[in-house]
Order: sequence, then C-alpha cells, then structure tokens
Amino acid sequence: MKTPRGPVATGSGIGANAPKNKWAGIVMTAFSAFGGILFGYDTGVVNGIKVMEPWLRRFGDELDSKGNFVLSSSRESLVVSILSAGTFFGALLGAPVADYIGRKWGIIFATLVFCFGVALEVGSNSVGIALLVVGRVFAGLGVGLVSCLVPMYQSECSPKWIRGAIVSGYQWAITIGLLLAAVINDATKDRADHSSWQIPIAVEFVWAFALAAGMFFLPESPRWLIMRGRDAEAAKSLGRLTGFSSNDPELLADLDEIKTNLEAEKLLSSNSYVDCFRSTDNKILFRTLSGIFLHAWQQLTGINFIFYYGTTFFQNSGIKNSFLITIATSIVNVFMTLPGMWGVERFGRRRLLLVGAAGMSLCEFIVAIVGVTIAVDNLTGQRVLIAFVCIYIAFFASTWGPITWVITGEIFPLQVRAKGMSLSTASNWLWNFGIGYATPYLVNKKAGSAGLESKVFFVWGSTCATAFVFTWFCIPETKGLSLEEIDDTYREVYPWQSVSWHAANLNRRRHAIGDTGDKDS
Ligand code: GLC
Repeated sequence: MKTPRGPVATGSGIGANAPKNKWAGIVMTAFSAFGGILFGYDTGVVNGIKVMEPWLRRFGDELDSKGNFVLSSSRESLVVSILSAGTFFGALLGAPVADYIGRKWGIIFATLVFCFGVALEVGSNSVGIALLVVGRVFAGLGVGLVSCLVPMYQSECSPKWIRGAIVSGYQWAITIGLLLAAVINDATKDRADHSSWQIPIAVEFVWAFALAAGMFFLPESPRWLIMRGRDAEAAKSLGRLTGFSSNDPELLADLDEIKTNLEAEKLLSSNSYVDCFRSTDNKILFRTLSGIFLHAWQQLTGINFIFYYGTTFFQNSGIKNSFLITIATSIVNVFMTLPGMWGVERFGRRRLLLVGAAGMSLCEFIVAIVGVTIAVDNLTGQRVLIAFVCIYIAFFASTWGPITWVITGEIFPLQVRAKGMSLSTASNWLWNFGIGYATPYLVNKKAGSAGLESKVFFVWGSTCATAFVFTWFCIPETKGLSLEEIDDTYREVYPWQSVSWHAANLNRRRHAIGDTGDKDS
C-alpha cells in the first residue's frame, strides 16, 4: 500500500518563525518542569525516612540482635514500591485525563490527588501502616499523572530548537526533588519524635501547591486545543506562547501545519489504544514499543537502586556516614543533568544515549568487581566504590535521565500522543516498581557483606550493554525537528535505516519554506 503523504513539513512548528517574544513560551513551559520536583521528592523521601528511629518504632515489624525495631524485607519492599504501583496506574490514567480535560488542567487535577495521598501519609502515625500504604498509593497516582502530563505539555508547547533542553529541565527538577528529599531527611532525622518523618512528608504540600498555582496561569497546549476543534482558543494560546497576536499570518501558518498533520494522521489510524498496537504505515506499533522499551531500559540502568536503597547499600558496604553519601550522589545527579540539558541540543539525543549506556555499563561492572573482591572495612575499596557509583550517576544524569523523557514526548503523532506517552510512562513505573520491590530480596542485607550487595551491579551493567544495542537500532535522531517533521520522517523510514532517516530529513529541510534552521526559529 502506498504511504499517504503527510504535509510537506515546512519546518515551522511552534515558534519556528521568529517570534516577537520568544522567551515567554520558554519561561512558561520551563515552569511546568516544577512537576519534576514533586516526582523526585516523593520518590526520594522514603529512602531516608524508612531508616529513622521513630519511624521504625512505629512501623518496624522485626527486632534486630540489639532489640531495635527494623523492617522485614517484605515490609520494606511494600513501603518503597507501593508508590510505583500507584504511579503505574496514574500514568495509565494520564491518557484519558490529558485527552478529556487537557494537559494543563490534567496537571492541576494530579496535584489534588497527590495532596490527598500526602494527607493520608501524614495521618498514618495514629492509624498504622495500612493508611501509610493507601496514602502512598494516592500520592503515587498523582505522581504518575504528573510524570506523563508534564513532559507532554512541555513537548507540545515549547519551541522546537530548545524543546529537548526544556523537557530535560523536567528531569533536572526530578533530580532537585531527590536532593531536597535527601537534605530535608538529613535535617530532621535526629528528632526524637514522629515529626522527624512527618515533616519531610508534609513538605510535599508545598511542591504541589506551587505547581498547581503556577499552572493555573499558563496557557493550555495549542495542539490539544486543535485536536478538540477549539481553533480560536488554540490561536490565543499559541499567541501567548510565542508573542504573536492571534491573527498574525505566521502564527496561523503554524496552526495550519499542526491541523494538516493531524488530518494526515487521521487517514492512517484512529486514536484508540488498539491503534497504538497496530502496525500501520505511520509505524505506530513501532513507536509505541520504542517508548515502552526506552523507559524499561532507563529503569534497568539500576538508577533507583541508588536512590531507594542507597543509604542501606552504603551502610552495608561499611561506609559510616551513609546519609551524607546519599546527599553526595544526589548532588552529582543534579549537577550532571545540566551538561545533559545543553548536550541534548548540541550533540543530539541518540549520540548521548549511546555514550551514556556504554559509560554506565563500564562503571557498573567496576563497582560490582570492587564490591565483590574487596573486604567491607577496606577504606580504599570503599572510596573506589563511591567514586564509580558517582561516575555512573553522572553518566545517567547527563544522558538516559533526561533524554528518555525528551524522546517519548517527541515520537508520537498528536492523535495518539497522550496514549503513547501514557503507555511509555507506565512502563517506566512498572519497572520502577519491579526493581523497588525485588531489590531487598535480590541483595542479601543480613550477610552484612558488601560483596553480596554489589553483585547486583553485574545485572545493571549487562542491562546497560543491551540498552546500547537497543538505542543503536531503534532510536533516531530527532534534534531540531518539529513534532510534525518527526512524524513525517517516521512515516518514511525506520530509525535503523539511519542514513535514509537523515537523508529524509535533509530533503525535508531543503523543501522547507522559510526555515533556515536558524536559532531564532
Ligand atoms: C529518571 C527516572 C527516575 C529516577 C530519576 C533519577 O527520572 O525515571 O525513576 O528516579 O531519573 O534522577
């Protein structure tokens, strides 16, 4: 069957034509990255509170040799990973919410669900572990929604030349959230009463409020408004994002391109979940699987092993101030995301993913070998171990951390974007849950041996090596292309035909009307 041709992409896309105020859209879409703080903080906070003495007194279910309360592996798994179970369903809910109430109101709705969960968690002290678990499920639903909706909103609203950096800003906010959780946990850990763990949890209201209040003033995604046939509002919203007036011919041309592209997509498939898994000429099945696997591999880098169990892992490796090391790893994560934000537009997505997978794999094998061969009390061994864990985090932070979110915001055509992103994000959380749940069983804490703990890095080292192969064959370069251009190129070639992929893009650029690829566009 002959592939129906989409519009010859003009390379316009939002903000392609020199906008009057190009910073307006950038600042607005960058603000929504605040959702990442909520995500990072909530996933990180449990790492520290579950080792606090008052928390263990209240929720611990076993006694150690000194008569102190500790957590059994099953309870630790439950408390850590139940959030990811909630987030999995939250991510799946992301598609209907984003399609029916919109990207902007979807994010605001998510903060309300999140706050309900946090309120239950804070109140669990008087009720017990069951309420804590239910609270974490609701907070998880909120985080899952946010994790799907924020990158979607950002991809659809930001100018193409800086889209990668803006969506990477969301990952940066996640890392800041993780760091804030580590710092606040450290600040309250020595309190003798339950406020030691209730304060870090209650702080989550602040993040949720800031996100909801800010989003209230931001415009809705023009692409979503067009999908709903609300063209006049789409023009207004695009006007706010670009600084053009809503009847400016250039702005109308941008809207027209989005509409034409949507019409072309509609000829190829409808917008149901089934369509995400149908092999059509616009390669939706391939794109859905790429998103799902990309997120699976991001989790299989093993990054959350450090952020969920880092404190325990370093303690068991004989390292005294494990709280401080956890803060150090979070700082590396925050600062090394910055080169990623810059590199994603400079070197492109694909190249960074390849470098990241190779670098992480190498470091993880080194950590595993050092951990297995060196005695627990060997100071040099501990330093080498910490150093390579930090280098591994640096590779993750500047590559797979941000780029996974960037790519899933780009590869789906508008009419199934919400569903494709929702499925990909759900895959992220499913693996996150699996790893969070299985880790305490995988690593033998009771042996108190660094060797047994470290062996798990052989697994992550191997999965990173397979992530390299996956990227090589399945992930195309999408840097600098508008969402509509990416869509067009997918219709023509598969990413592993990378020469044809680049030729197709070059061709498109040659035909581009008035698109010089200039930075202002
Ligand atoms: C990514 C991952 C998340 C992880 C974080 C660490 O956002 O999806 O699971 O906790 O990076 O920076």
